Amino acid sequence: MKVLVIGSGGREHALVWKIAQSPLVSSLMAAPGSPGMADNAICFDVPVSDLDGLVTLATDQAVDLVVVGPENPLCDGLADMLRENGIATFGPSKAAAMLETSKAFAKDFYARHNVPTARYGVFDDATKAKAFLDGFKPPYVLKTDGLAAGKGVVIPQTREEAEAEIDAFLSGKFGDASSTLVIEEFMHGEEVSVFALCDGTDVKFFGAAQDHKRVGEGDTGLNTGGMGAYSPAPIATPELIETVMETIIKPVTTGLAADGAPFQGVLFAGIMVTDEGPKVVEFNIRFGDPECQVLMMRAKSDILPLLDAAARGTLAAQPDVDWTHDPAITVVMAAEGYPGSYAKGSVITGIDAVNEMTGVQVFEAGTARNEAGDVTAAGGRVLNVTAIGESLHYAADRVYAAVDDIEWADGFCRRDIAWRALKAH
Ligand SMILES: Nc1ncnc2c1ncn2[C@@H]1O[C@H](COP(=O)(O)OP(=O)(O)O)[C@@H](O)[C@H]1O
Ligand SMILES: [Mg+2]
Repeated sequence: MKVLVIGSGGREHALVWKIAQSPLVSSLMAAPGSPGMADNAICFDVPVSDLDGLVTLATDQAVDLVVVGPENPLCDGLADMLRENGIATFGPSKAAAMLETSKAFAKDFYARHNVPTARYGVFDDATKAKAFLDGFKPPYVLKTDGLAAGKGVVIPQTREEAEAEIDAFLSGKFGDASSTLVIEEFMHGEEVSVFALCDGTDVKFFGAAQDHKRVGEGDTGLNTGGMGAYSPAPIATPELIETVMETIIKPVTTGLAADGAPFQGVLFAGIMVTDEGPKVVEFNIRFGDPECQVLMMRAKSDILPLLDAAARGTLAAQPDVDWTHDPAITVVMAAEGYPGSYAKGSVITGIDAVNEMTGVQVFEAGTARNEAGDVTAAGGRVLNVTAIGESLHYAADRVYAAVDDIEWADGFCRRDIAWRALKAH
C-alpha cells in the first residue's frame, strides 16, 4: 500500500514512525514532512496549505491512502478534494470538520443531538454578551468561535476582567476567529482526551490520554499547543470510556451522519469528568498533538489497516485495537520564550543516542538541519521526547533521563508531566 501522511509536526512524525512498521506499506510518503520523518518516509515539499498541490501529489504518486494530520487542511476541505479524485482519505470532510472549525456550530450541534456539555451563548454583540454573564458565577469561559491554534480560550476570574475580554475578543484580539465568541458555564472536574476512529457509521475506541496545556509546572502560566501527555490516564476507567462512547461519541457520529456529514477519521473528544458525569469541553477532528505520540507508542496493533478501514467504511470488520498496558509519556521540549516569541537556529545534540535507549523515541516537532547536518531548533515546540515503561514511574524516569541527555542550550520543558497520575499511584 502506498501511504501519504500530510503534516510536519511531532504528531505526524509519530504517525509515520508507526505506519512505517506495517508490513502492508510498500511506499511511505509525507508532505511536507520533516527532517525527522525522512528516515521513514520520502518527503515532498508541498505545504499543508497548498490543497491543490497535495491532491496533485497524491494523484501523481498513485497513493492508496492519505492520512491527514492537522486540522487546517481538513477544515478547508482537503479530504473532500482527495475523495473527489478517488483517493481514500483518513480525515473528515469539510462539513464534518465544522465541529472543530466553529465552536458556535459545535455547541449548537451538541444541543440538537443531546450531547452533554456546558451551558452556553454565542455573541457578536458586546452588550448582549456582557448581559449574558449575569447567568453565571465566576470564573467565566470565553472562546473564539474560529480556529486559534489552541490559544483562543480565556478564563477570567472576575466580571470586570470578563467584560474587558469580551471587548478585546470582539475588537479582533484573535482576528477573524474572535469576531464571534462563545461564552460557557465553567465546568469543574478533571479533563481527559478520548479518541475514537469512525468510518462514517461505525466507531472504535482508540485510546485515552491526558495532556498538559499550560506552559508552567503545576499547570500554571499561558496556554500552549500542549507541553506533554501520557496514556493511559487512570481516570479513564473502562466504565468512564463506556459512558463516553455511549453518551458522547456515538451521538456525535450518528448526529453527523443524520445531518448528512458522516465522519471518517479520528474524533478527539475533550472531556470534563464532572460530578454529573462526563461532559464535552470540545471536539477536535484529528489526533491530538502530543497525545498521538503516546498512543502510537502504546498501540501493539498494526494501525494501518484501521486507518484504511476508517477511510473506506469497513471499520466493523477490523479487530479492536490492542494496547500495551505499559504507560507512555511524552515531554515537549520547547524553545525558550514559547508560547511567546523565541529564537530559531540553535543546535541540538544527543537525539540519536537517546533513540538508542530502550523504550525511548524522539519525535521531531519543529526541527531543521543546518549545513553541517546538525539538528537545529526551527519552531516553538521542537522535540517530543517519548518513553514507555512497565509503570508510569518507570516511564517518567526514562523520559527525563532521555531529556537530560539531550543538549540544547535554548530549550526547556516541564519536569512534571503526568504529575496527576504519578501522585495517585
Ligand atoms: N466550559 C469549560 N469549563 C471549564 N474549563 C474549560 C471550559 N471550556 C474550556 N475549558 C478549559 O480551556 C481549555 C481550552 O478549551 P477548548 O474548548 O479545549 O479550546 P481549544 O483547545 O480550542 O483552545 C480546555 O482544555 C479546558 O481546560
Ligand atoms: Mg482543547
